[in-house]
Amino acid sequence: MTDWLPHIPRLISIEELDTEQVTAVLDTAEQLLPIAQRRRGSVPTLRGKVVCNLFLEDSTRTRLSFDLAAKRLSAEVINFSAKGSSVSKGESFKDTALTLDAMGVDCVVVRSGSSGAPLQLAGYLDVPIMNAGDGWHQHPTQALLDVFTMRRHLGDLTGRRVVIVGDVLHSRVARSEVQALKLLGAHVTLVAPPTLLPPAVQDWGVEVARDLDEVVADADVLYALRVQRERMHRAFFPSSREYARIWGVTGDRVARMKPDALVMHPGPMNRGVEITGDVADSDRAVITEQVTNGIAVRMACLYLLLASHPPRVEPCVPPAARTGEVA
Ligand code: NCD
Repeated sequence: MTDWLPHIPRLISIEELDTEQVTAVLDTAEQLLPIAQRRRGSVPTLRGKVVCNLFLEDSTRTRLSFDLAAKRLSAEVINFSAKGSSVSKGESFKDTALTLDAMGVDCVVVRSGSSGAPLQLAGYLDVPIMNAGDGWHQHPTQALLDVFTMRRHLGDLTGRRVVIVGDVLHSRVARSEVQALKLLGAHVTLVAPPTLLPPAVQDWGVEVARDLDEVVADADVLYALRVQRERMHRAFFPSSREYARIWGVTGDRVARMKPDALVMHPGPMNRGVEITGDVADSDRAVITEQVTNGIAVRMACLYLLLASHPPRVEPCVPPAARTGEVA
């Protein structure tokens, strides 16, 4: 990395980023990680900036993570959720946006059940918009924190094999993740029940496998997606037990993986369905690390979107690349 950082005008979709911008986010997050890991303290980087968290759909870790990320950078944070706001009285999205504009916010982090809501918001507001998950469409910061976590363990992701298994159809994480991994040169394989594969998956530029057991041994990362029942209005698979047997990340399957291969999940998990409790709690799983890394990555994104004069940063090499060891 150089001492030059690109300005990222908004973060709505990984599709709008190039490899250099993704790398800049990861390198910046690497530098911010010690602050994210600290249980106390902050840096004054975004003092005076107001970040609005506009959460129109349920969220635990993403919302808390964005909140903490902004606070660690000394931004003022205002939290807005549909419940308890005028949205529940029928206020339109446009009027909500205009209200935020009138309040003088500097950045809006938006989560919505509607695909396209962040883009719509960007049409109403002249401040950077950060997508915290919209419908089935995108969840760019989740993808960035995931590739950040992979890179910390595996070093350069070029040629690394990532298997994503589960409910791809309803997953904004899968859509963003595939794009981020491809930008970094990784090889992606999707495995899913045929009913949970998107119809246009052949255009994603990834391999699609039918049998999880055939691909686990070569995987550097096994990434389990949540079965998204709230988005299912009919039966997509016979039973949870059947699902767990065929597509679940189980101890037997993990035992056949390479010794340094990782197990990941975006959370929240359905233990016993897409991942067994013993795997989720094992040393192979980096699921809680993903959460901590999420704070650093969101700090990096806020910083690159909001800081007008990014400070100079030291050349940054991820620890695994430096030492050849797992961080
Ligand atoms: C993901 C989401 O909301 O899309 N979760 C998250 O942000 N931590 C994945 C999911 O809900 O399955």
